[in-house]
Amino acid sequence: MFFSLLAKLKEMRPLAINDRTRVLVLTGAGVSAESGIPTFRDADGLWRSHRFEEVASPDGFHRDPQLVWQFYSERRQGLQSAEPNDGHKSLASLEARLGGRFLLVTQNVDGLHQRAGSKRVIEMHGSLLKSRCSGCDRAPFYDPALYPDTLPQCSECRAEGRDALLRPHIVWFGEGLDLALMTRVRNFMSDAGDQLIFLAVGTSGNVFPAALLVDDARAIGGHTILVNRDEAANATHFDQVIRGKSGEILPVLLALDET
Ligand code: OAD
Repeated sequence: MFFSLLAKLKEMRPLAINDRTRVLVLTGAGVSAESGIPTFRDADGLWRSHRFEEVASPDGFHRDPQLVWQFYSERRQGLQSAEPNDGHKSLASLEARLGGRFLLVTQNVDGLHQRAGSKRVIEMHGSLLKSRCSGCDRAPFYDPALYPDTLPQCSECRAEGRDALLRPHIVWFGEGLDLALMTRVRNFMSDAGDQLIFLAVGTSGNVFPAALLVDDARAIGGHTILVNRDEAANATHFDQVIRGKSGEILPVLLALDET
C-alpha cells in the first residue's frame, strides 16, 4: 500500500517546493475524521442527524438556546478524547520547514491543528472551545465547559445589571466571516502570486467562501491540489485531485520533495 501510494504520488509530481514557494492549505472536516471527529455531510455526518437551521444559526439560538448548547456541549465532549492524526502532524511538519511561507486556513473548530504543532492557523469558522457573549462585544474567551442543561450567562453583562446568554464562538449559517482574517488569507495569496501552491484537504467544497479559494488561487497563477476521500463539489476546479484519506496521503505527499 505505502509503496504503491508513493509511486503514484511521485508520478503525479504534485508538490515542487523551492525557496520561493508559498503554501496555503485549506482544511475541512475530513482532516479530523481519522481523529474521530464527525464530518458534516458524509453518510454519518452531523447534518444528517441534526438540522443546521436549529443548532447552527442565529434564529435557532434565539428559538431554543438550550438545544444549541446541547449540540455544542456534545461537540466539546467529543473533543476530550480526540488526538491529532498523521494528517494534522504532517501539516505541522511542513510549516516547521517553510515558516512564514506557510499559512493554514481551516474551517474546523476543533483546535487539532494547533495541538499538532501548527502555529500559523486561521480558524475561519471560529473555535469550539471558545464562547462569546450574545449581547455585548467582549472578546471571545477560552471556555471548555459543557452546558447540556443550563444556560450560561455573561458575567460582564450581569455585573452591569443586564442578562445576556453566552453563545459558542462559531460562525453560524447566515453570519459573516471575520473580514480581517480573510484579508490575511488574501494578502498571503497575492504576495505569493504564481509561486503559490494551494492545497485543500478533507473538504466537500459546498461551503462558501472557502470553496472559492481554489478559484482565487488559480486566478493568480497558483498550482492547486485537492486531497479528499470522496468527490468534492468543486473538484474540477483543481489542477490535481488525489482521492484518499488525509491521514494516509499527507504524510507521503508532504515528505515527497524531501526524498
Ligand atoms: P463536509 O462534511 O461537508 O465534507 C467533508 C469532506 O471530507 C467530504 O468530502 C469527505 O469525502 C471528506 N473526508 C471524509 N473523511 C476523510 C478523510 N479521512 N480524509 C480526507 N477526506 C475525508 O465538511 P466541510 O467541507 O469541512 O461549518 O464542511 C464545511 C463547513 O460546513 C464546516 O466548517 C461546517 C459545515 O457547516 C460550520 O459549522 C460553520
